[in-house]
Formats: sequence, structure tokens, C-alpha cells
Amino acid sequence: MTDASNAAPLDNIYRTIQSDLDAVEISLKDLGGSSNPLIAEINRYLFEKSGKRIRPALLMLSAKLCGYEGRDHVFWSTLVEIIHTASLIHDDIVDNSTLRRGQDTVHSRWGANITVLLGDFLYIQSIAMALKTKSYDLINILADVTAQMIEGELIEYSMSGNPDLTEDLYLEIIDKKTAQLFADSCQIGGRLAGASPADVGRLKDFGLHLGLAFQIVDDLLDYTGDATTLGKPVLSDFREGRITLPLIHSFRQTAGKAREDLICGYRDRAVDPNAAAKIMSAVAKTASLDYAFDRASSYVAKAKEILAAFPATEHRESLDRIADLVLRRKK
Ligand code: IPE
Ligand code: IPE
Ligand code: MG
Ligand code: MG
Repeated sequence: MTDASNAAPLDNIYRTIQSDLDAVEISLKDLGGSSNPLIAEINRYLFEKSGKRIRPALLMLSAKLCGYEGRDHVFWSTLVEIIHTASLIHDDIVDNSTLRRGQDTVHSRWGANITVLLGDFLYIQSIAMALKTKSYDLINILADVTAQMIEGELIEYSMSGNPDLTEDLYLEIIDKKTAQLFADSCQIGGRLAGASPADVGRLKDFGLHLGLAFQIVDDLLDYTGDATTLGKPVLSDFREGRITLPLIHSFRQTAGKAREDLICGYRDRAVDPNAAAKIMSAVAKTASLDYAFDRASSYVAKAKEILAAFPATEHRESLDRIADLVLRRKK
């Protein structure tokens, strides 16, 4: 699938919420009007290039699925995207990544010191903006999810290079660093609409399963994706020692001397120019990319099953199509 044909389905799915997503873009670009010139300059750089805006879309569609007709979903979607953006600029420092959304990462341009501070600023600014609403249930959700995302990143980093990382711990990491924000984006949408606790719970569960699949696919794309299409480097998790599902599975499926060799080869990745090729061949031998894709497919199937409890509206259809696209995406 080409870059353009991959973008088109998302644009098409977003059709019913496009004007609201455009309003989010305007709010994000307003951050480039900060009174501090350095914050303004970096924010302009940061929000000029759009990502997929999947979290704002999930929040809006969840709200509309539950009959919401107000305007506050634009505000809360903006906050969710600011939190996501802050997590990315910190993550790129942690992951030593040079490219994001097809442009230099913030820390490669302004240095890690300034970027850490900018990320802190964005996190606290989003909470300060939320506090003005006095909607303490939603503010609590945002504060909790932010802490969980950082905890997920911490656990992941602390397990770097450790071949004993289990699938269970990997799932806990991706739940915290990625899936909870998906879940809470959906949950906030439902709560804005005044949905019943059962429906809010269902939306949260839908987002959670989708988020798990989304991160597994992201980790697969690190092996199989194209850097230009992705707008970020490939084989970067491998280089940085982040062990994700394909490698966890490959380690698990390999025994005895072969396993020792595999782990040795993995440990030599910084000095052995053939390390990546060797790992790719091991992962192929154990069909570990297929295994990870199957796991992601199961989470998407579960997400779709949860969604099916809602009335069949165009918004449910959009959420269902986002779920399908999570598996097919190339970026
Ligand atoms: C990247 O998220 C971080 C992960 C959770 C894998 P996205 O893939 O949603 O990034 P953008 O916002 O589209 O750039
Ligand atoms: C980071 O995961 C997800 C966050 C919540 C920040 P990754 O490290 O896999 O994300 P990418 O690949 O850099 O986008
Ligand atoms: Mg990263
Ligand atoms: Mg990644």
C-alpha cells in the first residue's frame, strides 16, 4: 500500500468529524502563540506537522456514538493530543530517535535539556487548562493516565536489553504507555455525552483493546515498516535494546544452544554489523512476526466485539473502521 493510499482511508473515516478535528488543529496551533518566544517557536514546530490524530478522533466519535451534541469534545480532544505530543517528545529523547512525523525530533534540534523542559511544560499546561473546567472526574482521568504513561516508559526502559522480559510484562508496559490513553480518550467521550456507566465502561474497554493492538502493530512496524512512510526510523527498538513481542516470542520459541547463540547475538548488536540480519532471520524462523500480528488481530477482534453492543450508527461504523485500519496501517 502506498503512503497516499494509506492516508486516504483515515481521511475518509474522519469525514463526519473533520470540522471538529480542524478546530483541534487551530487550538493546537494557538500554543505557538505562547508569550515565551522559545516555547512559541518549539510549539509552532511541533504542531505544524500533524500526526494521525487518532486519540482526538476516538474521543469525538465515542462522544457522538453516545449522542453528544455539545462542543466540549474539541477542548478535551486538544488536551489528549497535547499529552500524547508531550509523551512523544520525551520518548524520542529516551529512545535516541532522530526523526518524528518526517522531521527532526525536537531534541535533535533544540537539545535534550530544552526538550525535557518543553515536555514538562506541555504536560502541566494540559492539566492547568483542564482545571479551569472544574470537571474533576475528567481531570483525574487525565492526571492518572499521564502518570501511567510515564510509568510504562520507565518499566520499558528499565527492562531494556533484558532477554528475560516476559510477554506479560510487555503487555503491562504497552497497557500503561499506550493503551490507557486510548481507553481514556474513548471514556472521556462517553462521559461528556452523559453515557451510562455500562456504556462508559464498554467504550473504555474498546479503547484499551484497540490501544494494545495499536502498540503491537507499532512494534511490528519497527521490523517491517518503511521509515519514509512511517516518518520515524525503523529497527530503532532493536538498536536501542527495546525488546518487543516478536523478539520475546522468538526467545521463547528457541531452546538450548540456539537460544544461547540468539541471546549472545542480541547482546552483540552494538558491535556486530550483522546483528540485525541475524535477529531478523531468527524472528523469521520462529514465525514471530506472524505471532505478534495474530495477537494484535485478537485484540482488534475483541475491540470490535465490544463495539458491536452499541447501536449501528455512522459513528460506530467509523470506530469499527479505525479498528480495522489499526491492523492494516503502514504509518
Ligand atoms: C506513536 O503514536 C506512539 C505510539 C503509541 C506507538 P502515533 O502513531 O499515534 O503517532 P502520531 O500522533 O500519529 O504521530
Ligand atoms: C512510545 O512507544 C509510546 C508512548 C506512549 C510515548 P514507542 O517508543 O514505540 O513509540 P514510537 O515508535 O517512538 O512512536
Ligand atoms: Mg519511541
Ligand atoms: Mg515504536
